[in-house]
Amino acid sequence: MTAPLITLDRISRVYQTGRFEVRALDGLDLTVERGEFLAIVGPSGSGKSTLMNIVGCLDRPTAGRYVLDGTAVEELDDDGLADVRSRSIGFVFQSYNLLPRTSALDNVAMALAYQGVGHKERIARATASLERLGLGDRVDHEPTELSGGQQQRVAIARALVTEPALILADEPTGNLDTASGDDVMGILRELHATGRTIVLITHDADVAARADRQVHVRDGRLVA
Ligand SMILES: Nc1ncnc2c1ncn2[C@@H]1O[C@H](COP(=O)(O)OP(=O)(O)OP(=O)(O)O)[C@@H](O)[C@H]1O
Ligand SMILES: [Mg+2]
Repeated sequence: MTAPLITLDRISRVYQTGRFEVRALDGLDLTVERGEFLAIVGPSGSGKSTLMNIVGCLDRPTAGRYVLDGTAVEELDDDGLADVRSRSIGFVFQSYNLLPRTSALDNVAMALAYQGVGHKERIARATASLERLGLGDRVDHEPTELSGGQQQRVAIARALVTEPALILADEPTGNLDTASGDDVMGILRELHATGRTIVLITHDADVAARADRQVHVRDGRLVA
């Protein structure tokens, strides 16, 4: 048996903002096996994005243990975290998070620059990744010259180009019409079929129903 890809053990995250203290995550436990397609579901304010930021090594828990792909994340310094992020995780956000005034090709190729991949290989792999998402004729377009669905496909191409163990998607269909949203979910299903582990965060029950397993977050904890 192989070890789980993700083990979260009694994770808490408390935000301190002046007069307020918000316990966004409160002793949350979660295990994700390699090759799973998991949806994390919960209402607004339940802690989904906070959880995504911790799973994605963008933020650290206030307490608890997180092991990702065999690495104890709390033992890493900021450079170590950035390294894990770049090698092991592909991110897809609701708002696409593409660099403005930058071509689709360069947006995707950028993900490889952080890993020190040479220019020629960056261009070849970014082109292949965009072609795989059906954007072979849009590589030179900038984000404002693409539809929302196309921008999200560029973001998915960027998430994939580094061949990460984990694809982490926070409300990836949130800004899309039904058809483009279905399209994105179909792409995630295909990626899952080729062996990727996918963790999808959503408040939409129909979107969540397309994952293989759902867990529900309420007030910073998983509920049955
Ligand atoms: N940077 C922050 N500082 C203080 N409080 C925060 C911060 N970020 C989130 N919170 C609080 O933590 C709780 C969880 O927020 P989070 O963004 O994780 O919710 P969410 O489930 O992603 O909600 P949504 O569905 O609306 O995106 C909320 O009560 C929120 O007000
Ligand atoms: Mg959120």
